[in-house]
This record gives sequence, C-alpha cells and structure tokens, in this order.
Amino acid sequence: MRNVIIAGNWKMYKDLQGTTELINGLRSQLTTLPPRVTVVVCPPFTSLALASTLLKGSPIRLGAQNMSQHDEGAFTGEISWNMLRSAGCEYVILGHSERRQYYGEKDEVINAKAKKAIASSLKPILCVGETLAEREAGVTDRVITTQVRGVLSGLTKAEMSSVVIAYEPVWAIGTGKTATPAQAQEVHQLIRKLVSQIHDWPLAEQTVIQYGGSVKPDNAAELLSQNDIDGALVGGACLKPDSFASIINAVK
Ligand code: PGA
Repeated sequence: MRNVIIAGNWKMYKDLQGTTELINGLRSQLTTLPPRVTVVVCPPFTSLALASTLLKGSPIRLGAQNMSQHDEGAFTGEISWNMLRSAGCEYVILGHSERRQYYGEKDEVINAKAKKAIASSLKPILCVGETLAEREAGVTDRVITTQVRGVLSGLTKAEMSSVVIAYEPVWAIGTGKTATPAQAQEVHQLIRKLVSQIHDWPLAEQTVIQYGGSVKPDNAAELLSQNDIDGALVGGACLKPDSFASIINAVK
C-alpha cells in the first residue's frame, strides 16, 4: 500500500493573523491522522516560521510553495532551500501551473529546483498538468509525458524516493470543474507508467501521485479511491479547517 499525502496550497492567502487562526483550527480538528496519511500545509513564505512554531507537537508537516534553484546570492525576491529548511519546511511545491503560467517557469528550471530541493533534504511536490486547449486538442498524453520526463530528468532512483508528483489539470484549478475520477485515473496511470519506463515498476509502485484541481469534501472520497490516486493537492478547500479536515478524513 502506498502512502497518501494530502497537501494544502494556501497560495497568496493568509497574513499572520489568518495563519494563526487556520493552523489552530486545523490542530484542533486533526489531533490524530488516519494511518498511512501525511498532511502538509504550504502557507506563503512570510507565514512559514510562524506556522512551524504553531505546528510544534502536531502531526501536520510544513511545506513551501516555491524555491530558488540557487543556493544564495544576488537574486532579489527569491527564497533558498536553506531559508526554507531553517523555517521548518520538509516539503516544497515546485512547478505549480500558476508558476508556469504567470512566471514563465519551464520544465528545465523546475527540474533544477527539484534536484536542489532533494539535495537539501526537502521533498519536492512536482506539478504537471495540461491546459483546456491541450485537452481539447487531444494532446494531454503528449503534454504530460513531456512534463514528467522534463521535471524528473536525471533524478536517480534514490532521489526519486523523496519525490511526490501532483497531476493538476490546469482547467480544473480554481474553476470548480474537477476532472472526473476516471479522467484523473487515466492520467495518473500514464504518469506511473512513465516513472516505470524511466526507472522500474517497483519504484513506480511506490511513487506518490497526488491529484489537484477543485478537490472538495464532496468529491475527495471518489477521487482518492482510484487505484493510482495517492493523495490530493488542495487549493481553495484548504483555507478552512472544516473542509480541509473532511478531505483528509475522506481517505479510506
Ligand atoms: P484548487 O487549487 O483546489 O483551488 O483548484 C489546486 C491547486 O492549485 O493546487
């Protein structure tokens, strides 16, 4: 049985006050987690150190939403692996479609960031996903294949053990349109096959592949019951303790 990872991507929401309220709310709802389930919250950079303090003694892990591929230097506005580690992060989301779409991040830079994260003992959550135009043009498989091969390029089997992959169809993010469980399962199966081709089946079988895109309490159970869906990357529904907790409790 693979582990299940439910991660909350707070995006550009929550100041320090909002962070305190959300973390305290989650702590009171999630005193123990279902077996095999890891829960990660990914607040904005400015809230990481506070969140880490508030999470002491809780089973909830901390992640960031982005990271530089460089160690340090004159990179105005960037955040390094060392800063994330010292703020208490264990995970980092890389290559989210909003980073790709609005900040021009390409597979190559996401791959460089992934290598840097793993070398720094951070677990990367690597995002891939097709746009609506690509799905309608029938090129989903090709797009996903290119992205998966690109972001995983050159990673060794040992490095792959800390990688989480998130399939997030761009047309389902923040739109209320979820991929059907069957649509999601089909792409998850493709991603697992790609990992097996790059490495081997035993490794592919262990790789955690999350689904993301309008995951809500009322669709989580069905999505998470698919064979190749091993968790969720949750945006909107992670901003309220109740809805995030019900998604976590939907894991069977
Ligand atoms: P959403 O966002 O759940 O609000 O669709 C998911 C994500 O972007 O990770």
